Parts: sequence; C-alpha cells; structure tokens
Amino acid sequence: MSPTQAPTRVDEIVDGIHRLSTTISYEDGLVFQFNQFLIDDERPALIHTGMHQMYDSVRAAVGEVLDPGKLSYVVLLHFEADECGGMDRFLEGAPDSALACSDLSVALNLSGWNYQGRVEGHQDGDVIDLGKRKLRFLETPHVHHWDSMMLFEETTKSLFPSDLFIQPGDQPPTVTESLGSEMCGFYREVGIFAHEEPVRQVVDRIEVLDPDWVHGMHGGSLRRDVLPDYLRALREEPFSYQGKLLGREVL
Ligand SMILES: [Fe+2]
Ligand SMILES: [Fe+2]
Repeated sequence: MSPTQAPTRVDEIVDGIHRLSTTISYEDGLVFQFNQFLIDDERPALIHTGMHQMYDSVRAAVGEVLDPGKLSYVVLLHFEADECGGMDRFLEGAPDSALACSDLSVALNLSGWNYQGRVEGHQDGDVIDLGKRKLRFLETPHVHHWDSMMLFEETTKSLFPSDLFIQPGDQPPTVTESLGSEMCGFYREVGIFAHEEPVRQVVDRIEVLDPDWVHGMHGGSLRRDVLPDYLRALREEPFSYQGKLLGREVL
C-alpha cells in the first residue's frame, strides 16, 4: 500500500497568512503534515512548495486564495524535496516570480544542476518587501542543513522556522497543546539534527525576536502562549542524532 494523501486544507491563521496543509498517512502508521504558507499581499509569496507529487493539490489550494500566476516569490528555506519539490512548476506558472532562498542554497544546490529558473540568494538580515508585509531572512546553519534559513514577518511577528517545532500527527491549524517533549522524542527517532548546539543558539535568537506566531512546516501553527514549552524542551532535552534515521537503527 502506498502513502495516502488527504486533500490540501486552507486556513487563514493570521491576517493574510494562509496555511495550506496536506496530511499524508504512511504504511508504517506515521501520519504527518506538510504545510506551505501563502502570504496574500501586493507581491504574494509562497513559503515552501511541498514535494513534487503534491504540486496539483497545493496549486489548487493557492488558487482558493489568489491566482497562482500572480505569485511574486516562491521561498525555500533549505534544499529538500518538501521545501522545493514543486518550485520549477510554480515559477513556470507565475511569469513574474522568483525563487528566493539562501546564498548557500544557490551555491550548493542550484548552480550545479540543470536548474535554469530565476533565483535570488539571500543572507541574514535581508528583507523581501511584499507590500504590507516584510519577510526578513535569518541564517540558521545546521538547523538542520547547512543552508538552512528561517523567515520573520515583521507586521504579524510571525516566525517561519521550517522543520523546527515539528508536531507529528493530524494537527489542527493552530496547536494549543504543549508538545515540546514529544517533539524532541520525534527528532531523536528521525535523526534530522546532528547536534543540539546550533539549534540552541537559534532558540536564543527566537526568544529575542519574541514572535506572536510560529508557522512550522509540519504540524499546527503555535501562538506565543504555548511557545515557552517548546523552547524549554529544545534547551533541556536531548534531540540530536542518536543512531536512528527515520526510526531505523543505523549500525
Ligand atoms: Fe528539512
Ligand atoms: Fe520539512
């Protein structure tokens, strides 16, 4: 039996920021969500695209909010299929759009393949002006790839942390549960972080940013009142690679 993909669900989480969420059920019993975030503004942005095979469903979900041909930016926060598997088709369908990612993603992953699309690389502190909203890039190396970035949207104080703050399962659009320990347990099983230290440095930065919202790629969005539990867990509990990859013991 192959994985089952539910229809993509669209929810406006906070003024103009829409969560497009697709839940996939795997053969081993894992239920996992893949989210993209669509910012409806003068220059609309799609943050993450989902995997290649999710494209039609994600495009239709974008179409519930705005014309996908009007996208200005497709943003990827590190080079991995769930971040950017649909990037070429989203760019093809939106003639005035550009791919926005880290300088490192451009150097490592986009310049040595046959990628021909429009792309702009960014570094820490760069800002994309969408009109009403502004997206500031944070370089967050080794959380969990060396080209990893996050975004901070200034007007809604929204952090887009990609794979940090994961909650597995079929989560509601906004999660109000304290699932910090479960998050760390999941990270130990899947083995996506080599070490705690680079993540804990970013946790310090996040506390200074003091976000009102955290919109992760997997799970529900978190409001500021539940965030302390997740930050505490990342500070106090082990979550780095402990010899397991996607639940499998590696010898
Ligand atoms: Fe990732
Ligand atoms: Fe991811």
